Amino acid sequence: MSEILLKRNDYYSLIVDGVHVGGTWIGHNNFVEPKESMSENDKVVMMFSIGEQFKGKGYGKILLEKVIETEKDKGTKTLRLAVLTDNEIAINLYKECGFVIDGYVREMYYMWREL
Ligand SMILES: CC(C)(COP(=O)(O)OP(=O)(O)OC[C@H]1O[C@@H](n2cnc3c(N)ncnc32)[C@H](O)[C@@H]1OP(=O)(O)O)[C@@H](O)C(=O)NCCC(=O)NCCS
Repeated sequence: MSEILLKRNDYYSLIVDGVHVGGTWIGHNNFVEPKESMSENDKVVMMFSIGEQFKGKGYGKILLEKVIETEKDKGTKTLRLAVLTDNEIAINLYKECGFVIDGYVREMYYMWREL
């Protein structure tokens, strides 16, 4: 099985055996409030998703791990995100990849991790 991470502008795609199985946007915005200590090297994870027919096969974890490694190599210091509190699958995935819950606003958790 070949797993390739492609990056076009701020969007990453995970390609498995030539097929796009999912992707995510990693960049700068104020959708998730930055912590006071955060700098230019802090980015936000958005639109993280795996295609319906590819869910539950470990691709979400592969995508996130590859994105973390790539962003680390590029000098990114932290990643942060917001996730609905009832999205147990995504929360589990983010926790497994080192993210911790850092706040709560309405139905969303804020999570972050250092790279
Ligand atoms: C969240 C999402 C990206 C997970 O992708 P995935 O490829 O199905 O996840 P994986 O197969 O890589 O599983 C990774 C981890 O997620 C968790 N997970 C996966 N399926 C799960 C399930 N049915 N129930 C509970 N936890 C689950 C587990 O912790 C799993 O790790 P493990 O296999 O070591 O136990 C995918 O479900 C998705 O695209 N959901 C819709 C979009 C979305 O909610 N995105 C997040 C926005 S913040």
